[in-house]
Amino acid sequence: MGQLEGKTAVVTGGGTGIGLASAVRLAQEGAHVFITGRREAALAAAVAEIGEGSATAVRGDVTDPADLDRLYAAVEARGAGLDVVFANAAAASRVPLEKITEADYAAIFDVNVLGVLRTVQKSLPLLNEGASVILNASTAAERGAHSFGLYAASKAAVRTFARTWATELKDRGVRVNAISPGPIATRGLGLLDGLGDEDVDAFHEQLGGAILAGRMGLAEEVAAAVAFLASPGSSFVMGSNLYVDGGENQV
Ligand SMILES: NC(=O)c1ccc[n+]([C@@H]2O[C@H](COP(=O)([O-])OP(=O)(O)OC[C@H]3O[C@@H](n4cnc5c(N)ncnc54)[C@H](OP(=O)(O)O)[C@@H]3O)[C@@H](O)[C@H]2O)c1
Repeated sequence: MGQLEGKTAVVTGGGTGIGLASAVRLAQEGAHVFITGRREAALAAAVAEIGEGSATAVRGDVTDPADLDRLYAAVEARGAGLDVVFANAAAASRVPLEKITEADYAAIFDVNVLGVLRTVQKSLPLLNEGASVILNASTAAERGAHSFGLYAASKAAVRTFARTWATELKDRGVRVNAISPGPIATRGLGLLDGLGDEDVDAFHEQLGGAILAGRMGLAEEVAAAVAFLASPGSSFVMGSNLYVDGGENQV
């Protein structure tokens, strides 16, 4: 028996990377997982990987309230409420301060902040007692990396949402926590688009070599933390921020 037998989960950005690894893991624990993202093909491949009987894809953009309504209508139609929300979809960019435009700001904050807010807000009517809401923040929220201001600030907002919403949802028996991954070996929100595999490997080696673990993390290692926060084993973990960062921000 898995830890999430009979439970229902939503993972935004569940078609690739950390979201996909988490969806796979939640399904292995017994949950039925609804995944969403903008690319139909990525979602179809993800459902095949998770297992047809354990996953449902609902294509959508977290910046579009109507798409989120369709996602939650599909969850509601399943008739078992909702036990896990992993608000994971995000965007990233590299723009130095003097060049940031309002469009740059909106491109990050509409997905990472308003998108997360809407993802959780629209889930509220469906959340079962004992549900777990997990927000994907980042170690970037606490670091000063050149040209990463918009992304870092958006993730600081996500982390603080977890604190506030934990207080607002506790009376319903709903726990809210953040996770903060360090450098994880995914294609990384399109930031690495255009690079060949060798260049990505070299970049990952450099990034991973600079942290305590001496290597990049794996999406599956973040998924293990998501599964922990989703499960009753984390029943006393509330409003927290779980680092899965190979020590990046810890030493
Ligand atoms: N990789 C790292 O080193 C790292 C470190 C710290 C935190 N994180 C966080 O981990 C999360 C996942 O990132 P990842 O590394 O796994 O990268 P990824 O594979 O690029 O995952 C991002 C996912 O979000 C989806 N997405 C993006 N914009 C969306 C939108 N507007 N509506 C719906 N879905 C959207 C993407 O699918 P579509 O493009 O098909 O929509 C994609 O599946 C993000 O929150 C990121 O900030 C990553």
